[in-house]
Amino acid sequence: MQRRKLGKTSLEVPVVCFGAWAIGGWYWGGHDDRASVDAVRTAVELGMDAIDTAPVYGFGHSERVIGEALRGLRVRPLLMTKVGLRWDDARGPVFFESQDNQKNPVTVRRNLRADSVRFEVEQSQKRLGVDVLDLVQIHWPDPETPLAETLGALVELRKSGRIREIGVSNFTPAMLEEAQRLLGSVPLASTQERFSALSRGLEKEVLPWVRRPQVGVLAYSPLEQGLLSGKLGPERQLAADDGRLRKGQFSVENRVLINARLAEVVGPIAKRHGATIAQVVLAATVAQPGITCALVGARGPEQVRENVRAGELALQPAEVAAVWNGLANFEFGSGGLVGRVLKKLGLKR
Ligand SMILES: NC(=O)c1ccc[n+]([C@@H]2O[C@H](COP(=O)([O-])OP(=O)(O)OC[C@H]3O[C@@H](n4cnc5c(N)ncnc54)[C@H](OP(=O)(O)O)[C@@H]3O)[C@@H](O)[C@H]2O)c1
Repeated sequence: MQRRKLGKTSLEVPVVCFGAWAIGGWYWGGHDDRASVDAVRTAVELGMDAIDTAPVYGFGHSERVIGEALRGLRVRPLLMTKVGLRWDDARGPVFFESQDNQKNPVTVRRNLRADSVRFEVEQSQKRLGVDVLDLVQIHWPDPETPLAETLGALVELRKSGRIREIGVSNFTPAMLEEAQRLLGSVPLASTQERFSALSRGLEKEVLPWVRRPQVGVLAYSPLEQGLLSGKLGPERQLAADDGRLRKGQFSVENRVLINARLAEVVGPIAKRHGATIAQVVLAATVAQPGITCALVGARGPEQVRENVRAGELALQPAEVAAVWNGLANFEFGSGGLVGRVLKKLGLKR
């Protein structure tokens, strides 16, 4: 597995890291804890030894499952978690309403107050079963709390040795600049942003910005939540509580469209390398300038094994460009062509 330095810190991450949102269950149509523990252990054993999670993933469940997986491991992976989304505190602006894994209603609020940050770090350490967190990231900005207050609390935690590095997520370039300024001599380790061959909003401003102060970039949802794996076909039945079911790009017709494009653009490159579509897509993603690593979710050890190999795949620059250009301007939609394809497959819209 290729590895890269995270910003100006002493941390080193594999180019493909384990994203632990899905193993929390919530949003992803449930969880299979045995498969999740197996997935985490397989990842670490194969060198995908950095895990990104958050308290809100399954409302503590993702972190607890990782904690359980760690108890059976000799190697301690890098643990990257977050602060700022609370479902157990009535303060802060409402971010969204949802249901937890037991189907109880939950209200998630943005809260980056200093006391809340300290509380969340303590809770994450308990759930993960560790005394030190390697990277703590601001999950989403909180318009009610001054950034200086939040970063002040994180710097104190770093000084006391409870966390090693500080990162952010879902920040605009102006917010990144402000965070870096407020941190002074403490490096802003990283920003975590949505980035894939289909979600390229970072390319315009954030990626050119990060290169100057050397801030790491953790690309989230690099497989577009499975759509770019080449395996999420029209026949797949998503569970009723799988959030993807309610997203337009996961409609049956759009799955047909994206898989056709993947087969045409990525298929020949994958064949040449004896690799899969997902591996080539991930390798092309981490080859983009400014990207440190991709955080990839996995529900079990098989997906992990496949994703690990993406971090070992060396694509030629022309192949990276072919993937990137071939998926540029891909438009989801519906039309006569899709109708005909569906009919041929015997499927309804
Ligand atoms: N900071 C933020 O606001 C934020 C937001 C989102 C995500 N993240 C982080 O980024 C991580 C990754 O993002 P994500 O989970 O949204 O999306 P993703 O990594 O693009 O997709 C993950 C999903 O794709 C499918 N998949 C993965 N590997 C596969 C393979 N080899 N073959 C076939 N299917 C495969 C699995 O779902 P199925 O098997 O069910 O299809 C898996 O749960 C998260 O876990 C989290 O750590 C952060």
